[in-house]
Amino acid sequence: MRVEHEHLMALIDHTSAVIYMRDADGRYLLVNREYERLFKLRREDIVGMTDHDLFPEAIADEFRANDLRAFARGFPVQMEEQAPSDDGLRTYVTVKFPLTDASGRSYAVCGISTDITERKQAEEQVRRLNEELEMRVRERTAELEASTQELDAFAYSVSHDLRAPLRSVEGFSQILLEDYGDALAEEARQHLGRIQTNVARMAQMIDDLLDLSRATRRELHRAPTDITALAQEVATELRATDRDRVLDLVIPDGLAVQGDPHLIRLVLQNLLGNAWKFTVHRERAEISLSRHQHDGVDVFAVRDNGAGFDMRYAHKLFDPFQRLHSTADFEGTGIGLAIVHRIVTRHGGQICAQSEPGAGATFRFSLSPAPAGWVIR
Ligand SMILES: Nc1ncnc2c1ncn2[C@@H]1O[C@H](COP(=O)(O)OP(=O)(O)O)[C@@H](O)[C@H]1O
Ligand SMILES: [Mg+2]
Repeated sequence: MRVEHEHLMALIDHTSAVIYMRDADGRYLLVNREYERLFKLRREDIVGMTDHDLFPEAIADEFRANDLRAFARGFPVQMEEQAPSDDGLRTYVTVKFPLTDASGRSYAVCGISTDITERKQAEEQVRRLNEELEMRVRERTAELEASTQELDAFAYSVSHDLRAPLRSVEGFSQILLEDYGDALAEEARQHLGRIQTNVARMAQMIDDLLDLSRATRRELHRAPTDITALAQEVATELRATDRDRVLDLVIPDGLAVQGDPHLIRLVLQNLLGNAWKFTVHRERAEISLSRHQHDGVDVFAVRDNGAGFDMRYAHKLFDPFQRLHSTADFEGTGIGLAIVHRIVTRHGGQICAQSEPGAGATFRFSLSPAPAGWVIR
């Protein structure tokens, strides 16, 4: 019996946990060596004391309440507790279980407390860092949204305001040509013609800018969208602009996506419009729309056999007003792909271009968020 007792004491004295036993009234029956070390008490002195003799009242109350819970439950309960130490409060995860006599009556509660202060601190730090990070992301996002909105509002009102004076330039140069055309020298009439061409070009740029601004501001309304039908509509409109062109057009049946139909129509208008435009010098234009899957993401592609471009400048393509061809060769303002890019991005998708001068171009885009790190190919 004595040997057994010594074995048990050796066991509880050589653990880093704090172990103690108190009777039904909260009086100490036993503590281990770690307890003695921690609270600078000797076990023979502590027997008979209660936590209220040893700790501040609030803490002692809590210990007692937890003891009573273990008594009441009749089986082990686990909880977090805090106890004072030389370097402030430390946190423990504690298991308390009642000891019962032969008649089943609980006569004592035994507690085993493991110090988790460092872990708690680390957890707290992670939590704080996360909170800080979220806060910073929220702040930055708000700033970004504010500045994008300002910029959009600015672009919108400037474009609007520019229309009126431009109409006036257009109107008066027209009057000049009609009413005084005969009195003007041929060279002056040519100058006027140039003014009108440029005014028309600027009007187109303003309209495109407004489109770009709309593509950004319009709320995104996702709905089942029939890409095949939209592409066919766009193709019909393009064909109507020049019935003499020979065109091989492939639009597969059954292409559908979850997205904003109005905005996706703009995407197709611009991509098919470009394909149509940059194949104008081909005897036989070939344009195709297709879909493939890449890592489970639907990727659409618009391909043509037109003029193509040098991939060295590909990164500029999606910025407003960036063009890789001169207006003398191909009309345009350079806004279309910026609109497309915004719409695709707003859908959570990606877009990329691939080409070679003279060998046509392919534009690939997705319209849904992809797994992290996914890059469109
Ligand atoms: N299908 C294409 N083939 C060759 N170049 C293209 C094609 N699509 C776009 N590009 C290049 O990208 C530029 C920007 O396109 P976009 O923004 O639609 O402007 P725009 O059509 O008004 O020129 C074009 O001027 C052209 O240089
Ligand atoms: Mg275009």
